[in-house]
Amino acid sequence: MKIRNILTAVTMLTAIGSLSAREVSPSQIIPRPMEVSTSAGSFTIPADGFTFEYKGKQQPELLTEYLNAYPAQFHAATKGNKANLIIEISNKVKSKYELKVTPSAVIIKATDEEGAFYAIQSLLQMAQLPEATEIVCSTVTDSPRFPYRGVHFDVSRHFRSIDFLKKQIDAMALLKLNKMHLHLTDGAGWRMQIDAYPRLAGFAAWRPQLSWQDWVNNGSKYCDETDVRASGGYYTKEQLRDLVDYAAARHITVIPEIEIPGHSKEVTSAYPELSCSGVPYADDDFCIGKEATFEFLEKVLDETMEVFPSAYIHIGGDEASKAAWKNCDDCRKRMEQEGLKDVDELQSYAIKRMEKYVNDHGRNIIGWDEILEGGLAPNATVMSWRGTEGGIKAIKSGHDVIMTPGEFCYIDYSQDAPFKEPASIGGYTPLEKVYSYEPLDPSLSADEAKHLLGLQANLWSEYVTTDEHAEYMYYPRTFAISEIGWSTPEKNYPDFHARALDVVTMLDSLGYNTFDLKNEYGQRRESLTPANHLARGAKVTYTIPYRKQYKAKGDSTLVDGVRGGWTYGSDNRWQGFMSDFDATVDLGEIKPIGSVGLSFMQSAGAWVHLPKQVDFEVSENGVDFETVGTVWNDVDPNYPKILMKDYYATFPQRNVRYVRIKAKRHDRPGAWLFTDEIIIN
Ligand code: ACM
Ligand code: ZN
Repeated sequence: MKIRNILTAVTMLTAIGSLSAREVSPSQIIPRPMEVSTSAGSFTIPADGFTFEYKGKQQPELLTEYLNAYPAQFHAATKGNKANLIIEISNKVKSKYELKVTPSAVIIKATDEEGAFYAIQSLLQMAQLPEATEIVCSTVTDSPRFPYRGVHFDVSRHFRSIDFLKKQIDAMALLKLNKMHLHLTDGAGWRMQIDAYPRLAGFAAWRPQLSWQDWVNNGSKYCDETDVRASGGYYTKEQLRDLVDYAAARHITVIPEIEIPGHSKEVTSAYPELSCSGVPYADDDFCIGKEATFEFLEKVLDETMEVFPSAYIHIGGDEASKAAWKNCDDCRKRMEQEGLKDVDELQSYAIKRMEKYVNDHGRNIIGWDEILEGGLAPNATVMSWRGTEGGIKAIKSGHDVIMTPGEFCYIDYSQDAPFKEPASIGGYTPLEKVYSYEPLDPSLSADEAKHLLGLQANLWSEYVTTDEHAEYMYYPRTFAISEIGWSTPEKNYPDFHARALDVVTMLDSLGYNTFDLKNEYGQRRESLTPANHLARGAKVTYTIPYRKQYKAKGDSTLVDGVRGGWTYGSDNRWQGFMSDFDATVDLGEIKPIGSVGLSFMQSAGAWVHLPKQVDFEVSENGVDFETVGTVWNDVDPNYPKILMKDYYATFPQRNVRYVRIKAKRHDRPGAWLFTDEIIIN
């Protein structure tokens, strides 16, 4: 295996040229090692890199290739150049690796090549911490908490180069992340050369528009590779093999995902005979009734397994619409023949059939948690994204699980105040939120817990057009995934945050485009202190009810003195309506008031829009209402970022008991209204 050195930007930060000296310790790296003890003295980080030699019988071949690929950082000891880095592979070591820093040398003992590699990564991180010149004498004993520590790359919505992926593998290695989930296929583009179906790479991989948003706005069409407008692309098998090798040398497994049966419009447009309608651009899902679909999937999986040696093949399974199946003769026939009672069971039939095919080839499937519906395939590993319930259920039925719940692990959400961030899918998932995640549910027994393989960060890239933007979303939030996946579960955010600031600086110096953690704005200010006003604790009567899934705290939500944060998704403070808003506040007795207002949220990408118009009315008796103000929307309904707008009416003081607020929702079909608090004074 040949290791190609693309990380030419890596430079040791040493005393030379640096104004200040800094002694660093293993307790400052991410992920935090299991055990660290320190003693007096320190090791001076060598300005010209480490000189290594091996002790013991085992000569780690892969590690030697890796070290040789970075000649500025590592060179083998010679007679005249004595080793200051001694590496021994030994089955006597109780943990994954031990690393001992003495004044004259760093000594690594590891159970295997992988352990030695991780020890090297710990050392590299220390040596590259900002201003680092010395490492305190110390002993590290370290092992990972979970075997699966993943990062997901959605190369369908926006294609990324192999060089980009290799660069992220380097960062993943530094963070001891070990699974690269490649989302190779989706409606926005197919990304792998498949010899048996050349229109996948020749047509389904190309769009007349580069940006996903422009593509959607222009009717979501594909084009031929030869079209002058063609943007996007696909990986050749040779490129993918090279990527797999590059990752393997860094102890990272590349796991390919081939989406079945939904998210497949690029396939059913290139090969409409695989859909229920037979019409291009009509169906997102494969037809499960037609044998041609299974012939296609088997051939695609043959070629996928030929390129990717991973133990797992991800077969998707999420968000199939299943609608066309209900009206398709072939699908209905399949259901009848197989005794399947509904379309969930029809999906399950397809997944189980493909699982058998994959198992027969010595591999296992991973699927999104929808594969639980209609009956879980017998050997499937579940990737739990719609919360953790699916994952917990799968574990309790004896299946392996990878946790990636949207609330904590979806890093396509904004990581800071949306007004200062690039447009995103919505949401608010700052570093602290990701870090707060604990994947081991307390309801699991010790035996069940063994089925929890680990966790993964997902970056869906609808809004992430450029490589720089992608890196910005990954770093530092994947630091938290690294630490949760590797370290013991104790949490100390201030300590983690301080280390993250350093690692961000390190990645900046290595040429990554990171989020500016130092200047994080944080949560919406209004949400941090109670809102005092006359309506607190009042009774609210809804003429049109709120939606159950966005009820927040129910009837008290809009008068509880608590303003919402940057997201309606998980903070239980924003109440959602898929209708106009019409509610009346009863203050309990006649009171003098001179103002009434409330804020609404817009998140256009999630169909959440500001109301077109809000009318404020007051009444003494609850029957005769007088309008005291109207506010119209003055914000572009297509403005792509999240924003909050206050709708307020002030008026000469009146004695009233009832305040009615009517908000007209935006005309877009399916538009939502979200509001957090009615403020009356
Ligand atoms: C998913 O986010 N649809 C897995
Ligand atoms: Zn069908």
